[in-house]
Amino acid sequence: MLNIIIAATYDDMSRRAANIMTELLQEQPHCILGLATGTTPIGLYDELVRSYTDGEISFADVTTFNLDEYCGLPQDHPQSYHHFMREHLFCRVDINLANTHVPDGMNPDVDAVCSEFEAEIYEAGGIDLQLLGIGSNGHIGFNEPGYVFPNNTHCVQLTQSTIKANSRLFNSINDVPTEAYTAGIGTIMRARRILLIANGAGKAAAVAAALNGPVTPQLPASILQFHPDVTVVLDEGAAQDYFTF
Ligand code: PGA
Repeated sequence: MLNIIIAATYDDMSRRAANIMTELLQEQPHCILGLATGTTPIGLYDELVRSYTDGEISFADVTTFNLDEYCGLPQDHPQSYHHFMREHLFCRVDINLANTHVPDGMNPDVDAVCSEFEAEIYEAGGIDLQLLGIGSNGHIGFNEPGYVFPNNTHCVQLTQSTIKANSRLFNSINDVPTEAYTAGIGTIMRARRILLIANGAGKAAAVAAALNGPVTPQLPASILQFHPDVTVVLDEGAAQDYFTF
């Protein structure tokens, strides 16, 4: 079932999505969270840090799994997702870093990285809530448009459109890694609950097609129509094509 929430602004989107996560943390302090990086969730993480600072939630017993990581960027590289998570969330709350999992982009042994990541999720008991952003090409995690829905964690070649979109965060487009580890579509779909957030008109076409269009690996986020418990929180820009699709 898809539950769509349309928020007025980015801040409102961030607050409403954070409220959903805060409620889960209060009800299930030992929950397993699937986390995302990117520009979209920064406000949500700020809200979670605020709730933590106000004493409303604790991360002491929380376990996390991040969706993806670039191949070949050291953990302390400013654009690595390890670095992003420490900067925006992990180092600002009481989480035990040993309970946080981000694929090891520096390990070139693809089979080892991917099978270990899946095994760790399984052993933790599965993901209670998976947070997702969406690419303007409809990707979730780094599952790019293609001809199949990849099941498990795997290594992907990033598309030119993703490399171009992400180059804004690097000195030059040539510095953007061309490969990444990502949770698969199956990994994402096995989460008990999914929370997708999107803001800005640049995401409107992908959001409308993902929620209203045919389910196709050409638009990986469209698979979410088959998940039993999805909440989508959009700002007005990202929602602008939803009702006219
Ligand atoms: P963004 O990325 O939040 O930086 O727009 C989202 C995504 O590509 O999944």
